[in-house]
Amino acid sequence: MELREQVNEAVAYIRKHTKMRPEVGIILGTGLGGLVKEIRKEIVLDYDEIPHFPISTVESHHGKLIFGTLGGKKVVAMKGRFHFYEGYTMQRVTFPVRVMSHKIGLGVKTLLISNAAGGMNPDFRRGDLMIISDHINLQGDNPLIGPNDGEMGPRFPDMSEPYSQALIECAEHVAASLKIDIRKGVFVAVQGPNLETRAEYRFLRGIGADAVGMSTVPENIVANHMGMRVLGISIITDECFPDTLKPVTVEEVIAVANKAEPKLTKIMKELVKRL
Ligand code: HPA
Repeated sequence: MELREQVNEAVAYIRKHTKMRPEVGIILGTGLGGLVKEIRKEIVLDYDEIPHFPISTVESHHGKLIFGTLGGKKVVAMKGRFHFYEGYTMQRVTFPVRVMSHKIGLGVKTLLISNAAGGMNPDFRRGDLMIISDHINLQGDNPLIGPNDGEMGPRFPDMSEPYSQALIECAEHVAASLKIDIRKGVFVAVQGPNLETRAEYRFLRGIGADAVGMSTVPENIVANHMGMRVLGISIITDECFPDTLKPVTVEEVIAVANKAEPKLTKIMKELVKRL
């Protein structure tokens, strides 16, 4: 079945359960589900009941699609996302973004994405927030490979502003008004699932990245393909400085994400209000 038909079936299923047309989509990263509590929920669907939706294999993720209002706006939030390293194709990883989109899906024009990332900029510390200003795709694959459906977007999407400058400035203003320090930098996406070697961190820093993670870039590419505007925020969960690198466990990553998460939630909530 063609991707487009799969999206249509997923959208039809969701529409049977809710008439809501969310304008904002939210994808919550590892350990960053706290924003869900702030959503005045209308309906929650499990990923596994939605046709063609992938099912998350990472235990730290809960696969739920949440519809409701946040800061007076209609939103749809993904609690739990899909990673390339789980074995899904890039098309499958980004399927929910197509379902959410205004072009062929539920109505979302603005996509907010969070993730947990390793900090490589030596000024960064664990627990910091970083607005993603730009990205580098080192995942060795691309969700747009294959036939292009012109109704979804162009064959060769422009990526001169993959993260909306207006949203970046809005997030900076919001953070300042809440007195929350926030960084800004370039995010590089790698395949994972292993963390990087010292030599790889040195390389990734050298090519211009401030933070590294295993998600976000595929969703961003598809959102741009479909003309959505995107804001990305990383939580720096560990310090990836090649000369002083220490072992990191997923438990530590999640603990730091959980601890920093309230800052992210406050910013996201206020930002949605101002959209
Ligand atoms: N690499 C290193 N550290 C990390 C990552 C990553 O992909 N994600 C979260 N912390």
